[in-house]
Amino acid sequence: MTQDELKQLVAREALKHVVEDAVVGVGSGSTVNFFIDALATIKGRIEGAVAASEASAERLKKHGIRVFDLNSVNELPVYVDGADEITEHMHMIKGGGGALTREKIIAAVARKFVCICDASKLVPVLGRFPLPVEVIPMARSYVGRELLRMGGQPALRENYKTDNGNLILDCHGLTIMDPPALEAQLNNLAGVVTNGLFARRAADVLLLGSPDGVKTSTARR
Ligand code: A5P
Repeated sequence: MTQDELKQLVAREALKHVVEDAVVGVGSGSTVNFFIDALATIKGRIEGAVAASEASAERLKKHGIRVFDLNSVNELPVYVDGADEITEHMHMIKGGGGALTREKIIAAVARKFVCICDASKLVPVLGRFPLPVEVIPMARSYVGRELLRMGGQPALRENYKTDNGNLILDCHGLTIMDPPALEAQLNNLAGVVTNGLFARRAADVLLLGSPDGVKTSTARR
């Protein structure tokens, strides 16, 4: 099976978690694109969606799925999104596609976070994938120096602006032994909008695609 076929498999499996007649939270990235396409097949059974990126919103609209502003939604039973890395504790690195801030906001609102991944994303320790940090432009150098002091090697994502008009520093070389602590530490740096560690609000369900099928894990909390 190709990686795309695995992504499609988990995307279809995620439909089982979508709540009828409710708004569904939709993340961003290539796995989520397959989820949006799958969602289109049941669009008559949902109220609509909130989207973590302009790209996801566009794709949803093209399929005729209504896209709501998060501020007009009182509750969100489920949020479906991918990850760049995930551990068995359901801690994640996200933001490879740059949508980390909106993803984190929607994840905070959602009652259940369903993470959809192919098996290559499951890791014992986070950090091989460079950790994205979204920064206000004037804080770029300061935050970069702080990341260096913390043992990372930050690199400015070239020719890139987030949907919020900010910059991304991709921080290489971190071995992240305590994801919730590092997440909080980074968020405390002045000028950081958010960082790609999703540990304080981790996933609740992981759908992991492998050639043997989809393995479903549920967080023990
Ligand atoms: C987008 O900003 C990310 O958080 C994505 O969820 C993550 O990069 C996974 O993307 P793929 O499904 O394309 O691997």
